[in-house]
Order: sequence, then C-alpha cells, then structure tokens
Amino acid sequence: MKSVPGFWDKIWRADVLERVLASAETIALVHHDGAVLVGFACAHDVGFRAYLSALVVSPASQGRGVGTHLLAELERRLAARGCAVAIADVWRDAEDFYRSQGWAPPAVVLLRKRLAAGRQEGTA
Ligand SMILES: CC(C)(COP(=O)(O)OP(=O)(O)OC[C@H]1O[C@@H](n2cnc3c(N)ncnc32)[C@H](O)[C@@H]1OP(=O)(O)O)[C@@H](O)C(=O)NCCC(=O)NCCS
Repeated sequence: MKSVPGFWDKIWRADVLERVLASAETIALVHHDGAVLVGFACAHDVGFRAYLSALVVSPASQGRGVGTHLLAELERRLAARGCAVAIADVWRDAEDFYRSQGWAPPAVVLLRKRLAAGRQEGTA
C-alpha cells in the first residue's frame, strides 16, 4: 500500500491493518509473486451490504491481471455468503477499472464527515 503514491493515508491509525484483519466479517486477500506480496484486497460483510475498503496492486505488478483476480475472488466470496450488494469509494483514477469489472454508480449520494479522532471523552 505504501508503494503506491498517495495510497497510504496519514490519518489512518498506526495499527490500521491489524484492525482491518481483526474486524469481524472481514474478507482479506493477498496476492504473492514468489515471496513478494504484490496485491491486497479486503471487504467487510456489514449485513445490509458489503463494503470494499481496499484494493491495491504494487506499481511493478499492475496491468497483469492481479487486481481483476483479487476483485473477482472477493466478489465470489461475498456472494457465497449471501451478500447481494457491495459498495466502494474508489479513486477517480481507478474508476474505469471498476467499471470494466461491472461496477457502476448507485442511485445514492456518498457523504463523508471528518471525525475528531483521538479526542476521548473528558479530554479537550
Ligand atoms: C486499480 C488497480 C487495483 C488495478 O489492478 P491491476 O492489477 O493493475 O489491474 P488488471 O491488470 O487486473 O487490469 C484489468 C484491466 O483494467 C485496466 N486497468 C487497470 N488499472 C486501471 C486504471 N487505473 N484505469 C483504467 N483501467 C485500468 C487494465 O488495463 C486491464 O485492461 P485490459 O483487460 O483491457 O487489459 C491497480 O492498478 C492499483 O492498485 N492502482 C493503484 C491503487 C488504486 O487505484 N486502487 C484502487 C483504489 S479504490
């Protein structure tokens, strides 16, 4: 994730990956090229729908079908669990990739709110 310029978000907690993997109902996949991890994807079955939270392929391995394979396998596993809909907030640069895999804009609006992360009850 850190090999892709701009992908790693500094607002994420230091243990973000541990949290992702420990989160209930997470499906996480990696793609290896020998001993080198070149792709990562994860999604979360949150009941009403599934949320695709990460799909990334290292720059040196992009364009070789790794992303297609990881996304298809995530979709297969979610469908096997009975998930009928998956959503994702995707990079604009990657929009055409997702569209080529059958993804399309839903008839809803995506909103976001920045939270006061780290400020706990009783602190300023
Ligand atoms: C987007 C990404 C996951 C695609 O994975 P990949 O392994 O490079 O993709 P594939 O090799 O499976 O490509 C499948 C097809 O999509 C095309 N494609 C790949 N990335 C694309 C992009 N960003 N925009 C448009 N088309 C793209 C490929 O050219 C290929 O087309 P073809 O079948 O006609 O040859 C990967 O390029 C990546 O990690 N990019 C940087 C991070 C990112 O954008 N992640 C998604 C954030 S939501």
